[in-house]
Amino acid sequence: MRIDVALNPAEIASLPTRHLAHATCVVFDILRATSSMITALAGGVTEIHPVRTIEEALDLKGDLPRALLGGERHGDPINGFDLGNSPLEYCSLGHRQIITTTTNGTIALRNCEHAEAVLVGAILNLAELSDEVRWREPEDLLLVCAGTFAEFALEDAYAAGLLIATLPGAELSDSAHAALAITKLFPKPIDALRAARNGKALAAKGRGKEVEWCAQLSRFNIVGIMEQAVIRAIEA
Ligand code: MLT
Repeated sequence: MRIDVALNPAEIASLPTRHLAHATCVVFDILRATSSMITALAGGVTEIHPVRTIEEALDLKGDLPRALLGGERHGDPINGFDLGNSPLEYCSLGHRQIITTTTNGTIALRNCEHAEAVLVGAILNLAELSDEVRWREPEDLLLVCAGTFAEFALEDAYAAGLLIATLPGAELSDSAHAALAITKLFPKPIDALRAARNGKALAAKGRGKEVEWCAQLSRFNIVGIMEQAVIRAIEA
């Protein structure tokens, strides 16, 4: 297995033209998109529809009238939507469909939809995610760190490093070595998330509980897979 890591949004913009037919992608947007998605699936949500724009979300709502609209812009809920992007909003929604659009996470997911498989990664589901990757044994594993706006996000690279650490023997690219090295800097996930710009920004807004939630290691034994632009939980 060869592991590569797309560390910043500039690489994510070029994913649609990258050859990924034999690659499994794992998308990490720890604060907070993929953490909210894993929390939602664990809480019983049946389908998550990630879209790139607010307009797309509203159009899709026309086809899925019972779906809940969620997501954020600049970290805040979108006017007129049912949900923001705090994972604490997604704990117990039951068997609902969610349409979501976020600044980076949903774009990262859709930009690699032509890959052989696209998995939703978080610290919350790290152990189950590792099991799934080891079971799939892809030739190429591409870890996509969503970042924030146009910038690298420490928490996403840290999570990618945690996954890499569970896959000994894999051939690592330079960026994969870098992600693995980041995990050595922080003994616990909460340390990394509190050191991250996004973690500090959330804490400054009084949203520290969300940071703590996203830092829970392997809280949920669930993996999300995106197929035909819809994310569902992989049945164990
Ligand atoms: C993103 O998608 O860029 C982040 O998840 C934004 C956020 O949740 O604040």
